[in-house]
Amino acid sequence: MAETAGWVAVAQRSALGEGDVLGVEASGKPIALYNVGGEFYATDNLCTHAFAFLSDGWLDGDVIECPLHAGRFEVKTGKGLGPPVPCDIKTYRVRIVGDEIQVELGG
Ligand code: FES
Repeated sequence: MAETAGWVAVAQRSALGEGDVLGVEASGKPIALYNVGGEFYATDNLCTHAFAFLSDGWLDGDVIECPLHAGRFEVKTGKGLGPPVPCDIKTYRVRIVGDEIQVELGG
């Protein structure tokens, strides 16, 4: 999809309803998108604990629960909420351009 100065279009806004999580690829990188109360957020999709995609997990408010061992992260900040996750998860800035959800990579 289109790419301008670090921003990569990853999905249509209509693909992600309120309370949804969606796994996408941005320049080959797996990213999880979240719609929390109409605001969009993005993190790495791969859990920091082991090999599982957070987009296969459950979004409860602004917390995503990993499907494999139930590790939890705040999607707005990436903060890991205790064991078994060993560390926070990387977050990305998100913007809406027209109907596109764009994620800022790099930096
Ligand atoms: S792989 Fe996510 S909590 Fe273990």
